[in-house]
Amino acid sequence: MSRRIRVLVADDERNLRELMVRELGRKGHEVDDVGDGEAALARLQEASYDVVVLDMKMPKREGIEVLRELQALAEPPQVIVMTGFQEVSTAVEAMKLGAYDYLTKPTKIEELDIVIRKAAEKGQLVRDNEALRAHAPGGEPASGILTKSAAMQAALRIIDRVAPTDSAVLILGDSGTGKELVARAIHELSHRAQRPFVPIHCGALPREVFESELFGHEKGAFTGAVGTKPGLVELADGGTLFLDEIGEMEPDSQVKVLRALETGTFFRVGGTRPRRVDVRLVAATNRDLAEAMKTGAFRQDLYFRINTIAVKLPPLRERREDIALLATHFVGTTAAYGVKRLSPRVLAALEAYDWPGNVRELLHAIERAVILSKGEEIQPEDLPPEVLGAPAAAASPGGSLEQMERQHIVATLRQVGGHRGKAAALLAIDPKTLYRKIIAYGIAHDEWA
Ligand SMILES: Nc1ncnc2c1ncn2[C@@H]1O[C@H](COP(=O)(O)OP(=O)(O)OP(=O)(O)O)[C@@H](O)[C@H]1O
Ligand SMILES: [Mg+2]
Repeated sequence: MSRRIRVLVADDERNLRELMVRELGRKGHEVDDVGDGEAALARLQEASYDVVVLDMKMPKREGIEVLRELQALAEPPQVIVMTGFQEVSTAVEAMKLGAYDYLTKPTKIEELDIVIRKAAEKGQLVRDNEALRAHAPGGEPASGILTKSAAMQAALRIIDRVAPTDSAVLILGDSGTGKELVARAIHELSHRAQRPFVPIHCGALPREVFESELFGHEKGAFTGAVGTKPGLVELADGGTLFLDEIGEMEPDSQVKVLRALETGTFFRVGGTRPRRVDVRLVAATNRDLAEAMKTGAFRQDLYFRINTIAVKLPPLRERREDIALLATHFVGTTAAYGVKRLSPRVLAALEAYDWPGNVRELLHAIERAVILSKGEEIQPEDLPPEVLGAPAAAASPGGSLEQMERQHIVATLRQVGGHRGKAAALLAIDPKTLYRKIIAYGIAHDEWA
């Protein structure tokens, strides 16, 4: 959304309404206001809004009626419902009618602002998906996944078909190609959508910790196990367990996971009672598991168990038609930093680059560019030097210094396992400054993880 968010405030309390108009205007939104339900409906016929902040108790037409009627609009806005705290049941009804979220009065402007931005983002996503659907008859996109590429659409069709089943799914693809997004889509499209989606990274933790996270532990199972703790498999009961980077799992843990999959039961660490859970397994890896099997790093029996259905996500350089689509979308989702659009030269540069870090690298490049760009239009010099094809160090007169700082930050993050607070303390800078630098330098998670 490379423009301001259009907000309509409908509330009969004049002081409160004027306050909201003023403060939301200060947050950079384009705000109109009306004082009752009838006026709200009339205004919504005349002009289009991204978000409506709707008071539930209003004269002439109640908020709930307004909500019901506005669903009939060609492009219904996202609705944030405001209620008194005794009216939570109305809020629940409003959510059923399609409201995006509800807030109880009195509300902090900061909170309202965040919800407005999220609601607008959701609206944008819905519109993008609708546009896409219009372009690609036959292939309905799975939730939140944007693509125009035939290869990706083929992958999404597999996802659509396999999602409603309980079959295990293995998602293959290079770093940043959207594996986790796809895993979530499979969950969202399944009958388990109302139950938890529980991700665990199989390589980030030492084996003992990983197993006690996954399967839980009994009191006294090991030093430090002062209490009983249920495992993530238990939290995922009825839902989906996402084993991320399954190729990194230690062989001992692989045995336990396989046994759990085959018997449908597992033991907590230090436990003697078998426990039964109902979970659907989705796994992902960027490793070549066939190769890992040859060297014995990955168990063949586990491989066959999880590989019932495999979905391969192509790298971004093999679907360049997605670059402009994704870049434009990310400019919209980063709109919190200001209103921006991409210049034609920027689009050309983005489309020419190979994106070794795939969609994640593109996302970081856009976030960085949005922050760095001065005008409304993002220019080539706002892009990371590697995207422009320039050697990174020669990018600017201060290039090498910046590079040193970047390396220093990455090394520090690695040292503290990615803990931003600790890294900021070690670097003796404010955590917010660190956060800005991480974005400005386009430091990706996998550089320090
Ligand atoms: N087709 C897409 N449409 C919209 N957003 C996408 C798409 N593909 C990826 N993304 C976004 O790009 C980022 C990286 O995606 P994701 O985390 O799913 O990748 P991954 O394959 O799991 O990466 P890694 O191997 O590094 O863990 C996320 O922010 C995700 O929302
Ligand atoms: Mg991932």
